[in-house]
Amino acid sequence: MPWRGRDVIDPREFSREDLEALFERADEMRKELSAGSVKRRLDGRIVATAFFEPSTRTRLSFEAAAKRLGADVIGFSAEEGTSVAKGESFVDTIRMLDGYSDLIVVRHKYEGAAMLAAEVAQAPVINGGDGSQHHPTQAMLDLYTVRTLFGAVDGLNFLLLGDLRYARTVASLLRMLTAFRPASVMLSSPPQLRLRDEVREDVESRGLKLIEVPLEEGLSRADVIYVTRIQRERFPDLQEYEKVRGSYRVTRRLLEAYARRGAKVLHPLPRVDELTPDVDNTEFQAYFTQARLGVPLRMALLSLVLGADGSPPLRAKPPTR
Ligand code: NCD
Repeated sequence: MPWRGRDVIDPREFSREDLEALFERADEMRKELSAGSVKRRLDGRIVATAFFEPSTRTRLSFEAAAKRLGADVIGFSAEEGTSVAKGESFVDTIRMLDGYSDLIVVRHKYEGAAMLAAEVAQAPVINGGDGSQHHPTQAMLDLYTVRTLFGAVDGLNFLLLGDLRYARTVASLLRMLTAFRPASVMLSSPPQLRLRDEVREDVESRGLKLIEVPLEEGLSRADVIYVTRIQRERFPDLQEYEKVRGSYRVTRRLLEAYARRGAKVLHPLPRVDELTPDVDNTEFQAYFTQARLGVPLRMALLSLVLGADGSPPLRAKPPTR
């Protein structure tokens, strides 16, 4: 499907072809960034960031990406400074931003918020995370990082570990992986944090076999070790969080004892205590590279969705679902 004018809401809406086109564009952006010759493809455009939930990397890498391409950025990163604090509805807030900008990036604690925004707005909407449901641009970034490090996504062994229940990055990465042919996808988590059935069934029905493994076994077989933080803010009961807090920890010692040479650790970040800083200076560390690639990847996304050829913004969206 053409990228121009498209909403980016659900990771299942992107074919392998779509993703390959995105990654090729991100490669171009990376070259331009390192040569200091980025073309101002989005001169005169305005990108809005509506972040109703905390964020560092997603919001700031979108903003950096937009600015590198010559766009202006408006928006907010907390409800306190906006009329939401006066009781304005989510829908009205989105309507206002739609009138002020050419594209809206939304993050919200409620599942379905980005989809609702896309229905209300004429401008394309990008989901920057909705509850524990989707985080499509993080999954794009994760796969782009893997492709950059290993040359391909196909044929690799993946281990996803940690909070598989509430981490939206995990659900989105698994869903997006169904467009590729990994050699294996292994899961390891404390029993309380196992993948939700609805995600498992969805992913398996689209041909990806998931194997639950003990952590050490997963580490010894994985090329890509994807670590996630326990999503404390998603627990309905904090006592349940206290029971699993600190229940897994990836350390340099553990990796040196079990992981393959050449294996890479990815993490969407932020980390708390599940990935110790002594991994930072090892050959396993790829999470800082991953975070940095967020800028070229999101430049690619913005330029494709907004049309980088200097043509006027598209106000009528092509139907996506
Ligand atoms: C993630 C998120 O917001 O889902 N962060 C991010 O976007 N890089 C992961 C997390 O918060 O644990």
